[in-house]
Amino acid sequence: MIDIHCHILPEVDDGPKSWEVAEAMCRRAAADGIEHMVATPHSNDRYFYDREYLSKLLHELQRRIGDKPVLSIGCDFHLSYENMQSALQTPERYRIANSRYLLVEFSNFSIPPQVDEWFTNMNHAGTTPIITHPERNPILQESPQRVLEWIELGCTVQVTASVFTGSWGARARQVAGWLLQKKAVHFLATDAHDTERRPPVLSAARKIVTKQYGEATAHALVEANPRAVMNDQPLA
Ligand SMILES: [Fe+2]
Repeated sequence: MIDIHCHILPEVDDGPKSWEVAEAMCRRAAADGIEHMVATPHSNDRYFYDREYLSKLLHELQRRIGDKPVLSIGCDFHLSYENMQSALQTPERYRIANSRYLLVEFSNFSIPPQVDEWFTNMNHAGTTPIITHPERNPILQESPQRVLEWIELGCTVQVTASVFTGSWGARARQVAGWLLQKKAVHFLATDAHDTERRPPVLSAARKIVTKQYGEATAHALVEANPRAVMNDQPLA
C-alpha cells in the first residue's frame, strides 16, 4: 500500500517531536504493509514550508530507517489566499514528489470564493489537486455536493483512513460513505501524526472498505491510484 498523506518528519509541524518517534512511525507503517509514504508537512500560517530543508530531513529519515518504506516529499497545502497565489507561480514547490498532484486542504471556517476558478486554472496549467479529508470539514459535511462539483473541475479526493474505524465520529463516517457511493473518493491516506493517537495504519480501513464496497474499490484507493500519483500518471 502507498500512503500519500502523513506527517512523519520530526520537529517541523504538529507531527513527531523527535527522530525516535519519526522512525517508529516509519516502522509501524512498514509493519502495516505500507511500502511507500509521502511525507506531507503543513504549509499554512503556522508552519512555513521550506521544500529544500524538508527534503534534507526526508533523506536523513530514509537513511535512518533503511529502504522500507520508501519516502517521498509532498505538502499538506492549506488553501489560504497567499498559498493559492504561490501555487499558481511555483506549483512544483508543493506537489507530491515530481508529479502533477497537489494535496489541498480547506480551512474549517471558510471556503475561498475564488476556489472554483483556482482549481480550473491549476488544472489547465497541469496540476491535479487532491482535496484532503473533505469528510472532516464542517462546512463540506453540510454541503458535500460541492466536492462533486470540484471533481468536475479536475480535482481528486482523499479521505482519511481512520474515518472508517470510527476515529472521527459518525458524521465524518457518513460523509465518507456518501462520497464513496458517488464514486467521489480516489485515495485513502493515514494523515498520521504520531504512533498513538493518529498512527500510520491503512490496513484496518482497507479491510472495512473491502467488506463494504468490494476489493476492487479498496485496491484502487490504497494501491492503484496512489501508485499512479507516484508514477505521475492519470488515474484509471
Ligand atoms: Fe495532514
